[in-house]
Amino acid sequence: MKRIAVLTSGGDSPGMNAAARAVVRKSIYEGIEIFGINYGYAGMVAGDIFPLKVASVGDKIQRGGTFLYSARYPEFATSKGQLAGIKQLKKHEIEGVVVIGGDGSYHGAMRLTEHGFPAIGIPGTIDNDIPGTDYTVGFDTAVNIALDALDRLRDTATSHVRTFVVEVMGHGAGDIALWTGVASGADDIIIPEHNFNINKIVARVRAGHNRGKKHTLIVLAEGVMGAHEFAKKMKDAGYKSDLRVSVLGHIQRGGSPTVRDRVLASRFGAFAVELLKTGKGGLAVGIKNEKLVAADIIETLTNHKHKADLSLYELNHQLSI
Ligand code: F6P
Repeated sequence: MKRIAVLTSGGDSPGMNAAARAVVRKSIYEGIEIFGINYGYAGMVAGDIFPLKVASVGDKIQRGGTFLYSARYPEFATSKGQLAGIKQLKKHEIEGVVVIGGDGSYHGAMRLTEHGFPAIGIPGTIDNDIPGTDYTVGFDTAVNIALDALDRLRDTATSHVRTFVVEVMGHGAGDIALWTGVASGADDIIIPEHNFNINKIVARVRAGHNRGKKHTLIVLAEGVMGAHEFAKKMKDAGYKSDLRVSVLGHIQRGGSPTVRDRVLASRFGAFAVELLKTGKGGLAVGIKNEKLVAADIIETLTNHKHKADLSLYELNHQLSI
């Protein structure tokens, strides 16, 4: 391929800029012309497509967000939207596209592939919920941000002898809650992949208080329910102690990416270009057991589901007695 494009789509994640930079720089290194597409699939359909140079991605590796902007664009789920996007790509003589994004973005890339247009997906989402990879770009930064918040909440929880229910993001996945929960020494982690018993949780927290425990932290994945609803359930189950709620929200998606996310993003970006260079499209790149992998994007999305590491759940249960 001689001319390719890159876009970021869906919820942004720290490290998307580093991934786009790697796509741009590796393309130029390989003698491939590289174009950017603003606002994800919305920009593709609107023809918001422009050439990128070496300097276009200077001073970007350390920045959060995405300089290519992002959008949620449900219209791309229709064949009409997909064909309109392909028409624009062909107008610019683009032969392949790198899509950096999460679940919805991957489905867009899969549809492009089904229409015969080579697309490669780079997993970029804080949720860590993409099949075909152990980690997504942005997850490490997001859990570090959430962990920092948990450490701060522990301080104030201790001072006031309070319980905090802390809601973290993750869409339908519990990975952010699991990793943050284990790393912060949370008393309990509530995730969509594991059921919970509110009476047992209340009994456990109460037992902690009776032992003289000053702080209680419960990390709740948003995919289960909202933190206010969970706190109400605790009260309804007879929990009478001082209880506060904290919803971390979009703060988890901003800021400078960690070293791990920058390196992962750089590796993914360069790898995607290597694949397109040899004419390979229709792939989802990922990292498995620390090795870069590429798998058929249609097969990956159709037959595989991301699985949370439930050994972390069990570990936390054992350590937070
Ligand atoms: O997919 C990333 C994510 O941050 C999810 O964790 C969250 O549920 C969702 O996006 C929030 O979406 P929006 O930014 O559109 O409110």
